[in-house]
Amino acid sequence: MSDQSWTNGKLLDGKTIVVTGCSSGIGKEIARLVKKLGGDVLGVDVNKSDEYVDELYIADLSDRRTIKALVQALPTRIDGIANSAGLPPTAPANKVIGVNLVGLKYFTELMIPKLNDGASIVNVASLAGFGWPQAIPAIKASESLGFEDIDDFITKYGVTNDGGRSYFFSKEALIVWTMKNRWTWRDRNIRMNSVSPGPVDTPILKDFLETLGDRADEDRKVMDRPGLPEDIAPVVIFLLSDMTHWIRGTNIPTDGGMSSHLHCKIHMLEETKQ
Ligand SMILES: NC(=O)c1ccc[n+]([C@@H]2O[C@H](COP(=O)([O-])OP(=O)(O)OC[C@H]3O[C@@H](n4cnc5c(N)ncnc54)[C@H](O)[C@@H]3O)[C@@H](O)[C@H]2O)c1
Repeated sequence: MSDQSWTNGKLLDGKTIVVTGCSSGIGKEIARLVKKLGGDVLGVDVNKSDEYVDELYIADLSDRRTIKALVQALPTRIDGIANSAGLPPTAPANKVIGVNLVGLKYFTELMIPKLNDGASIVNVASLAGFGWPQAIPAIKASESLGFEDIDDFITKYGVTNDGGRSYFFSKEALIVWTMKNRWTWRDRNIRMNSVSPGPVDTPILKDFLETLGDRADEDRKVMDRPGLPEDIAPVVIFLLSDMTHWIRGTNIPTDGGMSSHLHCKIHMLEETKQ
């Protein structure tokens, strides 16, 4: 039987977790819960707000040199990373792809030597990444995308801000990157998963509504309510905890049922009403 020490005491007792985007919204709620459940939070954000953070590292996660310096400054023996920092589709496309995808990947890969064996990495993706199977050529082309090539990539693959495409693409590629890394660090029992929230009431919700226009109205018609950070953070905590060592490379939709609704619509699984 596997180790079930998580049944004793607090779920994250003694664990040190890095939370990016810790100053607002979902990241802030993740930080609050980590602390409440016995863990220490090393927060990373471009903004200075350290409410639930043991140590705050101010860093712009779209900049290669800053990320390198950040990783050098962070300690070793880290038990988990929650990658929640992200920009909405109203930000410039190169920044959206820089922070949500290229910066996240660069930061995470540099951090691997600083992680304890058995560590957990959780990427906050999005329902916006649902359509990844339709974007395979661009996703494959983005696998080795570096900071300096982002502008050319945007032009070549049309991942501009039109219709929020830069944001959707960043999350599609993130879900696929997570899946592809299911076993990358298996020899050290390090796992990576993602959580995909639907619309969540945080400061960037208005940016999504602005970008999506009529599409957002469609969602609003079928959804009972937008999510709250409190709906999303517990799922991230679950994946950071020792309860989930055999969940690897998975994406967990946390969206009030929206992704199931989309699957049912696409595959015509709803009963037709007479
Ligand atoms: N709110 C939603 O509807 C929603 C839905 C699905 C997914 N998400 C994802 O959830 C994550 C958190 O979003 P949120 O809703 O909490 O938004 P938020 O704006 O409240 O929080 C994002 C945090 O990331 C930080 N950040 C932004 N750019 C950064 C950079 N360059 N370097 C370091 N930190 C940076 C911000 O300062 C902020 O504290 C994002 O990845 C977002 O894409 C949000």
